[in-house]
Amino acid sequence: MAFLRNAWYCVGYPEQLAAGAMRSITVLGEPLALLRDGAGAFSVQAPHGARPGLERHGALWVWMGEPAQADAAQLPDFSMIEQRPGWTRVHDQLLVRAHYQLVIDNLLDLSHVNYLHPFLGSREAPPPEFRAHISLEQAGHAVTAITELSSMPTNGLFQLLWERGTPPKVSDMRANMRWYPPSMLYLDTGATHVGAPRADGPTIETIHWLTPETETTTHYFWVATRDRWVGDAAISEQVRAGIDGAFRGEDEPMIEAIQRQMGGRDFFEMKPVMLSTDGPAVRARRVLMQLIEEER
Ligand SMILES: [Fe+2]
Repeated sequence: MAFLRNAWYCVGYPEQLAAGAMRSITVLGEPLALLRDGAGAFSVQAPHGARPGLERHGALWVWMGEPAQADAAQLPDFSMIEQRPGWTRVHDQLLVRAHYQLVIDNLLDLSHVNYLHPFLGSREAPPPEFRAHISLEQAGHAVTAITELSSMPTNGLFQLLWERGTPPKVSDMRANMRWYPPSMLYLDTGATHVGAPRADGPTIETIHWLTPETETTTHYFWVATRDRWVGDAAISEQVRAGIDGAFRGEDEPMIEAIQRQMGGRDFFEMKPVMLSTDGPAVRARRVLMQLIEEER
């Protein structure tokens, strides 16, 4: 599968590039030099010239297509994950040894959470009143996987974040994951007492910016912002380590194993068996294929 070129790709965090510094990164197979001059201006150098760069939403971005078409307005509004009053954020990055589309498939099917992530999933069986509502929405090119779980045993992450440390045994949980082409995702997740409005319980909003390094490796940048225990550095570290452990220790080995099994074969040509929970991932694949086709 080719890459979408007329798009912004995250290449790092601003604090990784001090004034006067240079940093190397490979994007879509192309080695780039990220530069910041003495006055603080960010720019990107490629082997055959400059590439448009952008510093926005607490991240550094590069445009990999026609420079004349570079348009900052094409970057979705991720201002919710910037530092803002009443919220605090943690961020990190990792390298996934797989095609970036496999990472998107995984993020758009959160039914994997209960099987793969002890800290993010629920370890107990749900009570009889448990209800799950899963649906898909598309707005323009953005595809959202909506998961609403009512009377779900409260997971470890929300037990940690619940104010005053008194989490209910079961809660209503939501996890709405929105994908923007080519490989940017935003997750709104939270828990409340059963039937209560969203402000009742903790919310975590996360972004997942996936930047293909090569056809088989992906830079994975993530930011998580929360509205509980905002001044608590120990909780911040628990959240960061919990998310990093899930991505690095649980998702990455599984996705890398899929990459190895597929061995370069095309996803759709392998005629995969589709489950209802695969709807959003398949929709996103089709939107992206269409956009890449239109670029040719
Ligand atoms: Fe996961």
